[in-house]
Amino acid sequence: MRENGLVITTRQENHGSGHSRHYKDGIWSPFVKSLSRPTAVIAFSVVLIVGALVYTGTLNTHPIVSGGSSAKLPVSTGTYRVAETPREQVEWPLKCSEYNHTRTCPTNHYLKPGAAETLPGSGACPDYFRWIHEDLRPWARTGITREMVERARPTANFRLVILDGRAYLETYEKAFQTRDVFTLWGILQMLRRYPRMLPDLELMFDCVDWPVVLADRYCAPNGERPPPLFRYCGNDQTFDVVFPDWSYWGWPEVNIKPWEILLGELKEGCKRIPWLNREPYAYWKGNPAVAETRQDLMKCNVSDKQDWNARLYAQDWGRESQEGYKKSDLASQCTHRYKVYIEGSAWSVSEKYILSCDSVTLLVKPHYYDFFTRGLIPTHHYWPIKEDDKCRSIKFSVDWGNSHKQEAQDIGKAASNFIQEELKMDYVYDYMFHLLNSYAKLFKYKPSIGANATELCVESMVCGAEGVEKKFMMESLVKGPSNTSPCTMPPPYDPSSLQAHLNKKESSIQQVESMEKSYWEQQNMKS
Ligand SMILES: *[C@@H]1O[C@H](CO)[C@@H](O)[C@H](O)[C@H]1NC(C)=O
Ligand SMILES: *[C@@H]1O[C@H](CO)[C@@H](O)[C@H](O)[C@H]1NC(C)=O
Ligand SMILES: *[C@@H]1O[C@H](CO)[C@@H](O)[C@H](O)[C@H]1NC(C)=O
Repeated sequence: MRENGLVITTRQENHGSGHSRHYKDGIWSPFVKSLSRPTAVIAFSVVLIVGALVYTGTLNTHPIVSGGSSAKLPVSTGTYRVAETPREQVEWPLKCSEYNHTRTCPTNHYLKPGAAETLPGSGACPDYFRWIHEDLRPWARTGITREMVERARPTANFRLVILDGRAYLETYEKAFQTRDVFTLWGILQMLRRYPRMLPDLELMFDCVDWPVVLADRYCAPNGERPPPLFRYCGNDQTFDVVFPDWSYWGWPEVNIKPWEILLGELKEGCKRIPWLNREPYAYWKGNPAVAETRQDLMKCNVSDKQDWNARLYAQDWGRESQEGYKKSDLASQCTHRYKVYIEGSAWSVSEKYILSCDSVTLLVKPHYYDFFTRGLIPTHHYWPIKEDDKCRSIKFSVDWGNSHKQEAQDIGKAASNFIQEELKMDYVYDYMFHLLNSYAKLFKYKPSIGANATELCVESMVCGAEGVEKKFMMESLVKGPSNTSPCTMPPPYDPSSLQAHLNKKESSIQQVESMEKSYWEQQNMKS
């Protein structure tokens, strides 16, 4: 039993060879599929030409262009209208036979520097990107030195160096399950999407749940700077730099698919039962054993003596895995009007799944944040639940929602829109890009490849992979470079507007608490 609220006993075996189908027809070709045939051909030609203009002279060798042979290339000129909504069209096929033969990473997938400057923009980033500035603030004045990075090494699972757009890995300690594998896979996909657009950098990554760089130690203005250490979550007492977790590319041990696919399933899944027809209670399913606060939550479960409006279930991953995860299918868990989110041993990857249901998320006061959760606004995206009085807090929130149905549905909808729009995979990649780009700009030295580092590329990871791991990798493979630049970073908060923003969130939580207080005063007067 360990991290993130999960007990793992068995690993699901090979799912068969479904990956080749996903690879060809899957999530990356919506543009072509959505057009009628003749239009698609025309659009393609124009895109090919525009693509060719963008990439001419920037590739070491010719890219393979999907959907047509290069013989079609020099056709017509027409209008560039289609270029306003460009999509992936240059494909970089895997080179497994070359890799197997030479055991070295292929070289021809890399753009020359500066290629990015010609890309059209893709609009403003979501607001939560502003936290990138805050997370890097400890080094804003001093920059990042080799000595600081080395100090992050003791707890790091791996060191990753990015030089001229290529990745070099040194593993210090294997992470729990496949956390490190899918995190690295994710970084490689970002490098494929935005090739050679990042300055050189190196980073230390710790895959364990809890943040460790205690802010207290580094508060003297001219004292030692904290070590920059990347991980999946942080809290207000630490300076760890938060980065998207492995689950965006898949979590084979519990059969959680890559986010791009799951997001589509969740969108469909939440339409199955309209909000009004859902059970008018608060639902939670997970592993209560990982945290005391979860055991405390279990006291709120319905019994023949009391009903706090909560319907709580323990997840048995061992049995689920034997039964083919039928009961843990996330897209069919949108059955209740309210869903509880409660942290496990630290942040929980379940938060995005819970928020995506159109149900009102009842969020038990969290202590940790991950890269996107600081963008959530209480009473707009979720309903705050007190940590030290969970049952009464849940009972009140459900009663409130059932008597304010429109407001409750609006909260559910705002959350699922946030997840579908602001947390789509495009933005996960853009967040990674901007975080690493801003991080790299702070470097005071030129990183180099350590004696024990080996080059990491998609081929070195996927060609020898098997089973569900391989399937998830193929399903989340970025086919080729993006045609648009990453979204535009929002400026940093100035200190007073950041404080105002935080105060506003705090005061809406307090407002709920005082509503709750008067609700219980009235209940007590009645009895
Ligand atoms: C490469 O090698 C792996 C085993 O290491 C094998 O499973 C795979 O089929 C090979 N691929 C090609 C294209 O030769
Ligand atoms: C909560 O109560 C329901 C209904 O009695 C029951 O099915 C469920 O197992 C209980 N949950 C836990 C975690 O005990
Ligand atoms: C490389 O690994 C070896 C064996 O683990 C170790 O003794 C050596 O110090 C490492 N070298 C560097 C530069 O980290």
